[in-house]
Amino acid sequence: MINQSNRTISGVTPLSQYPSSEALLQEKQAIDQTNLKALFAEDSKRFEQFSLKAAGLFLDYSKNLMTPETLQLLGKLAEEAKLPEAIKRLFQGDKVNHTEQRPALHMALRKQDDEAIWVDGQDVMPEIKATLAKIATLTQQVHSGKWRGYTGKPITHIINIGIGGSFLGPKMIIEGLTPYIKPDIKHHYIANIDPNDVAEAFKHIDPETSLFIVASKSFSTIETKLNAETCRQWMLDQGAKAEDIAKHFLAVSSNVDKAVEFGIHPDNIYPMWDWVGGRYSLWSAIGLPIALTLGFDNFEALLKGAYQMDEHFRTAPITENMPALLGLIGVWYHNYHGATAHAVLPYDQYLSELPNHLQQVDMESNGKSVNHDGETLSYSSGPVIWGDTGTNGQHAYHQLLHQGTLLIPVDFVVPAQSHNDIGDHHPWLFANALSQSQALMAGKTLDEAKAELAEQGLSTEEIEKLAPHKVIPGNRPSNTILMSKVTPETLGALVALYEHKVFTQGMLWQVNSFDQWGVELGKQLGNTLFPKLKDTDSPLDQDSSTNGLISLFREINQG
Ligand code: F6P
Repeated sequence: MINQSNRTISGVTPLSQYPSSEALLQEKQAIDQTNLKALFAEDSKRFEQFSLKAAGLFLDYSKNLMTPETLQLLGKLAEEAKLPEAIKRLFQGDKVNHTEQRPALHMALRKQDDEAIWVDGQDVMPEIKATLAKIATLTQQVHSGKWRGYTGKPITHIINIGIGGSFLGPKMIIEGLTPYIKPDIKHHYIANIDPNDVAEAFKHIDPETSLFIVASKSFSTIETKLNAETCRQWMLDQGAKAEDIAKHFLAVSSNVDKAVEFGIHPDNIYPMWDWVGGRYSLWSAIGLPIALTLGFDNFEALLKGAYQMDEHFRTAPITENMPALLGLIGVWYHNYHGATAHAVLPYDQYLSELPNHLQQVDMESNGKSVNHDGETLSYSSGPVIWGDTGTNGQHAYHQLLHQGTLLIPVDFVVPAQSHNDIGDHHPWLFANALSQSQALMAGKTLDEAKAELAEQGLSTEEIEKLAPHKVIPGNRPSNTILMSKVTPETLGALVALYEHKVFTQGMLWQVNSFDQWGVELGKQLGNTLFPKLKDTDSPLDQDSSTNGLISLFREINQG
C-alpha cells in the first residue's frame, strides 16, 4: 500500500518493472500452499541444494521459503535488473554514486594484486599501497615503543574520535577480534556529542600514553570536531604543551587543510578518498585503530578475507553468488512477502557490534525513496536491520520472532569453533543457534501442543484452554552463515559479504546505495537550533513543539 501524502509504503510491493515479477507473485501464492517443514520432507537433498561455500564462509539458505523455481526466478529478476553488468561497473570504478559523481571503490582498498584501478585518469593503487605502508610503519613504531608521548612513555591507549562510518566499522572489527588484541594496547572510542561519552573515556585513559586518532572523512562533522577539541584541551589541562599535541594526535581525512587547521602535523594525516563512502571505509586508513590494536598483519589478513569475497562476488554466477543470493532472498521477503525488518543474530559474543555496523551499511545505503532518475519508488526499499548476540536475544525478543505477527527473516552468524575452549560452552552456544533456526522453521502445531500438555497430565478442559498459547506457527525463514572460527580473514569476508548484499539490493531497488542526503537535514536544523539554546534572547520562531521544548531547556538551565 502506498501512502502518497507522506510517501511511506508497506505491504507486498512487487518490483513490477521487471518481467519476472509477475511470476514471482504467483510463486509466492504457490509457496503459501506449502511450508518449510513439508519442503524439507519432500527433498532429502534440500540442504545440499540450498547451500554454498565462498571465501571461508558457508551459507545454508535451505530454511527459506523457496523452491528451485523461486531461485531460478530470483536469478532472472537479477538479470533483468542488470545486476551482472552493475557488478562489473562497480569494480571497474564507474561513477555508481551518480548524485555525487563518484565511484564506490572500497574493493580497491583490499585488492591483493597490482592491477591498476583508474579514477579520473589516475591509478589509485599506488596511493593505497603507500598509505598501507605508512600504517605499517606507524604500527611498528607504536608497538616497538619507538613512538613516545610527551613525557617519553610508550603509547598504550588508542582513542578513536569519529562517528558513523569513522567509528562503527573499526569498533566492530576490533571487538570482533578481541583475542587478537595486543596485550599492551587498550582501545577506546569517542563518538557521541553527548559529554557522557568523552567524560567516560577520560576516566580510562592516561594523557602521557594516549594516541588520539581524529577520524573524519570530511573533517567537518560537528561531533568529531567538538570531541577532538575537547580532547586536545584535556591534554593541555593535564600538563601537555601545545607543541606536544603532534605526538598525541593523528588524523584520517580527505580534508587535509581542515586537519592541519585543527593542529595536526601534516605528516600525521592519513588520506581518505572521496571514492570511499564512510560506511565502507574501515578498509582504508579509517582502519588505523584496527592495525594499531590488532597488529598490521591482522589488518592485512582482514583485507585479504574481504578481497576473497570481492573476487567471489565479481566472478560467481548470480544463483551461486553468496552476496547476490542474500540480497535476492531479502528482496523476496521484503517485496513479495511484505517483511519490513531483517534480524542479524551473531552467535559469538565478540561480534556484538556487528548488527550496529550493518545497520549503517544497510540502512544508510538503501534507506531511499527515489530511483536513479529521482522518481518516487512505487515499492518499498530498505528493511529495518536489527539484532544482537545469541543466546542473550533468546531471552528477550526471540519471543516475537517465534510467535509474533510479523515476518522477520533472520541471519544466524555462527562460528564452529570458539577462541575460548571452556567446557561445553561453545557446543551449547552452537546448539542454541541451530535450535532457534529449527524452531523458527518447524514451529509447534496445535496437535503437538495438545499432546505435550496431555503428557504433563492436564485435563481436557485445561488442554483446550492452554494449547493455542503454546502453538508456534513456524515456517519462518532464516539463513545460517557459518565460519570455522572468527579470524581476521573470515570477518573480512563476512563484512564484504554484507556490503555486496546491500549493493545487490540497491540495484534491484534502483536506488543510489552510496549517498546519504537524508542525514543532512537534521544536521542543518541542529545548526539553527543550537544558538537558540545558548542565546536566551534569540527569538523563538520555530514550530510550537520546538519552541516549547527550547523554553523548557532554557528554564531548567537558568535554574
Ligand atoms: O552523517 C552521516 C555521515 O556522513 C556518515 O555517512 C559518515 O560515516 C559519518 O557521517 C561521519 O562522517 P565523517 O567521517 O566525514 O566525519
